[in-house]
Amino acid sequence: MGKTIIISNRLPVQLQIHNGSITATPSVGGLATGMKSVHKGGESLWIGWSGLTDEEIPQILAPAIDNALKEQGCAKVKLTQNDIDGYYFGFSNRTIWPLFHYFLEYSEFELNFWESYKSVNQKFADAIIEQSDEDDIIWVHDYQLMLVPQLVKEKRPNASIGFFLHIPFPSYEIFRTLPWRQELLQGLLGADLIGFHTYDYERHFLSSVRRLLGLEVSFNDIYLENRTIKVDSFPMGIDYKKFSESAQLHDANKKDKRSDFQKRLDQHKESSPDTKLIVSIDRLDYSKGIAKRINAFEYFLNKYPEYKEKVRLIILAVPSRSNVPQYQLLKREVDELVGRINGELSTVNWTPIWYFYRSLPFENLIDLYTSSDIAWLTPLRDGMNLVAKEYIATRTDKTGVLILSEMAGSAYEMNEALLINPNNFEQQADTLKMAITMPVEEQIRRNTLLQNRLSRYNVETWANHFMETLVNQKNGNNDFVSRKMNDSILSAVTKDYKKAKKRLLFLDYDGTLAGFHKDPQKASPDEELYNLLDVLHNQKDTTLFLISGRDKQTFTKWFLPKKYNMIVEHGVWISRNGEEFKLLEKVNGDWMEKIQPVLDSFVDRTPGSFIEQKNYSLAWHYRNTDPDFGAKRANELNEVLTGLIGNDDISVLNGNKVMEVKSSNVNKGRASVRMLGEDAYDFVFAIGDDWTDEYMFQELPESTVTVKVGVQKTQAKYFVENTKKVRELLKQFTKY
Ligand code: ADP
Ligand code: G6P
Repeated sequence: MGKTIIISNRLPVQLQIHNGSITATPSVGGLATGMKSVHKGGESLWIGWSGLTDEEIPQILAPAIDNALKEQGCAKVKLTQNDIDGYYFGFSNRTIWPLFHYFLEYSEFELNFWESYKSVNQKFADAIIEQSDEDDIIWVHDYQLMLVPQLVKEKRPNASIGFFLHIPFPSYEIFRTLPWRQELLQGLLGADLIGFHTYDYERHFLSSVRRLLGLEVSFNDIYLENRTIKVDSFPMGIDYKKFSESAQLHDANKKDKRSDFQKRLDQHKESSPDTKLIVSIDRLDYSKGIAKRINAFEYFLNKYPEYKEKVRLIILAVPSRSNVPQYQLLKREVDELVGRINGELSTVNWTPIWYFYRSLPFENLIDLYTSSDIAWLTPLRDGMNLVAKEYIATRTDKTGVLILSEMAGSAYEMNEALLINPNNFEQQADTLKMAITMPVEEQIRRNTLLQNRLSRYNVETWANHFMETLVNQKNGNNDFVSRKMNDSILSAVTKDYKKAKKRLLFLDYDGTLAGFHKDPQKASPDEELYNLLDVLHNQKDTTLFLISGRDKQTFTKWFLPKKYNMIVEHGVWISRNGEEFKLLEKVNGDWMEKIQPVLDSFVDRTPGSFIEQKNYSLAWHYRNTDPDFGAKRANELNEVLTGLIGNDDISVLNGNKVMEVKSSNVNKGRASVRMLGEDAYDFVFAIGDDWTDEYMFQELPESTVTVKVGVQKTQAKYFVENTKKVRELLKQFTKY
């Protein structure tokens, strides 16, 4: 295995140039703070933006910058001011960020932003390709780089590529509004593993993949033509040890060693020992619900005036994305709100809100966490929210109360916190009161559980879990499926084919020889297919069977004049050498009258679905329905039918977007085995794409060359990707 490459928009440090010299400050934000701990432990290379544009880097300083980054295991992607404006301030933060956080009205769909996003994603991909080897593990992060996985996959098909989204993935109804929705999904599907913080984000993503790309999804695997992509949730943890140990050190510090910031907090505590400190820490971002929180605080003070002078809210807001208009508006709004409330409610001894608009050093962050009785975090939407976890980790004596919005990803794992809806002021006022008056034993009980969980599933465990899943996915990709029919296997099979004295071929039609069509009647054979089948059919010592679930009328029309051998309706009818179809199996169709009304009712309730009536079976097709809805209805129908048919001699077959009810004693396996018994064949071949073909793969003898079309669970020995490859394969058999 090669090295690990981490790619994100931000590097763990941000560079600045002051008076000709370079300074570095740590990056703020969940991605950078979390991944920093992963990066420092290993041999990884981190590629990202240095925080400086090309225009800002004087030529003379360029090598020094590269060296400084190299020392930290980092490499920069060169970005111009124009790139940053269009890709970062534009598409990333004026289009995707608001959309994915359900601020649809803030989302701007600007073609220029999109063009810039594409070109900068290409720059990141180029940087990766330049720095990586074929067997490296590449881990791409976050919404700024959603096209990168595909761009890298094209050039490095064998590399393991993982992608993790640090923000929510919105519901399909929101995501579908994006003009470039397909392109983003396709970009992500270049990865072998796609990770989200929560199961909800994962299921929203899978739903969009199904609905917008029409791809087959089974549980959390997406099937592309020649590979599977795993999608899973990995709730990100924190560097628990770093926070808890820093808090312990902080506690042990003698008074005179404390920071000025801590001294100030201490003074406050000493002068008003029964005043509770409530802290909130976020980037100044509209998704964090800061303005609402301030309003809710005012509401609380009005509802419970006895707490005036008894609580103080400390708001630490870190400047963020200040070139984006919505952030500027928010800054103004928060300034005004704090000013107004402090102006209205302050007394000589008390200011209700302390507001800091700056980034603080880590040490002061710990000062704040450890000094606050309550942490109050109210995001309207938040992918995870690590601040909530960090607060709990610093509570060395296990006291303290966390009030957390249920809209944060971390709320799923932090049930012992007081969970609130940030839009419900009444509930928040009551929760604040509950937090202020919560007995210490209860605080300890809740925090013990939280700390145990957070220390176990920390950021290292999180990263290891993601990496292990990625490596397993790559190594075992397609473990459960068959081997790909590559050139060398194909040439060996063709050799056997040529050597054989008597050959028997079973070829499924839909999804194998021809692609699917919205209307099954329109999926008729083309000239190329006829020519191919003609050659095979007329080959000496070769018996070819088309074997299909289709009805006999359709195959009579398409193939009878060609005199191909055919088995249809899964084995009910057979035709050889242009003869009329005959019954191959004795079947009873009496049940059809009973089942038909059931299927009719499903057609009525499932727009786009329809029934195909065959002589001895009924098929309910749902290819043209909404994929999620169709699959749900198919499950429902399966249950209804299974209950209905009981021990009757009929069974339900789940095909490719079709459910077929037919006699149990009929299937392609049984039919093909009967044909096999008719002569001494020494080369047997069966190919098909769906579940109904599995009967052949299972029942034909071990020596049969069985081939599945598409990457899916199968009993077949080999697979080919699509119908085009099927034809290429069969063409090999015609060449002699
Ligand atoms: P987001 O990623 O949206 O910014 P998170 O809560 O997940 O939100 O992560 C914020 C990270 O930034 C945390 O790790 C926190 O410690 C760090 N951070 C927040 N505020 C400050 C600050 N004022 N100074 C330094 N680091 C901060
Ligand atoms: C969130 C995003 C990160 C981003 C961080 C800070 O955590 O998920 O990708 O780095 O916010 O935002 P910024 O725009 O300053 O990088």
